[in-house]
Amino acid sequence: MRQVLFTVSAQQKTKTAKPNTLVPVRWRQEVQSVLITDAQLARRVKTLAREIEKDFRGREMVVVSLLNGTVLFLADLIRHLNLPLRLDFIGVSSYGLGTESGELVFTKELRLDVRGRDVLLVDDILDTGKTMSRVLPKLKALKPRRIKTCVLLDKPERRTHKIQADYIGFGIPDYFVIGYGLDFAERYRNLPFVGVLHPHIYKTASQSAVQKK
Ligand code: IMP
Ligand code: MG
Repeated sequence: MRQVLFTVSAQQKTKTAKPNTLVPVRWRQEVQSVLITDAQLARRVKTLAREIEKDFRGREMVVVSLLNGTVLFLADLIRHLNLPLRLDFIGVSSYGLGTESGELVFTKELRLDVRGRDVLLVDDILDTGKTMSRVLPKLKALKPRRIKTCVLLDKPERRTHKIQADYIGFGIPDYFVIGYGLDFAERYRNLPFVGVLHPHIYKTASQSAVQKK
C-alpha cells in the first residue's frame, strides 16, 4: 500500500520547506530539512518488501533497477526480499539544467534475458513520468511475463505522463529532494535520509550554467 506522508492540494505548489533541526550540522547550508529520516526509510522499505514478496511468491523474479539513483534503496529492498531473484540494471541519465529533467540518454543496456519472466522495475522517484514512459516500452518489447513497477518516492503533482507505480514507498510534495541515492548534480547521494535541497543551491547552479552559455 502507498504510504502518503503529506496531503498536498494542487494550490499548495511550493519548493521550499520549513527548516528543521534534524539536519546534521555539516549539511545545514545545503539541506533545508529532513523529509524522511533513516529510521522511517528503514521501516517503510521493509514493509514494501513484504508487499512485493506476497505478489511474487512462487515465481523467480528479475529485478531491473535504474541507475544511479536507486543504489541505496535497492540494496536495502532486496536484502528484505526472501525470494529467488536475479538482478540487472538499466543506465538512464537525464541531462538537464538544475532541477529540470532534460534529454534522456541510455548509458547501460539490460543484459539478462527477461523473456517470460516476472520483472520488478525499480526507480528512485516518479516525477513527470518521462523516464518510466521511455523505459517501460523498451522492457515490454523483451516479452517478460509481467512487469511491476516500484519507486521509493512519488511526486504526483508534477506528472505529465500517464504513469502510476505499483509499489510506492512515500508520496511527497513538489520538493526537490536529495539523499538516499537521489542527487543534485551527482552530489548528496550518500546522505542516509531524504532531505529537501536548499533552493539557493539549485538557483546558484542554474544561474552559473546560464552565465556559462
Ligand atoms: P521523471 O522522468 O520526471 O519521472 O523523473 C525521474 C528521474 O528524475 C528520477 O529517476 C530522478 O533521477 C530525477 N528526479 C526527479 N525528481 C527528483 C528530485 O526531487 N530529486 C532528485 N532527482 C529527481
Ligand atoms: Mg534517477
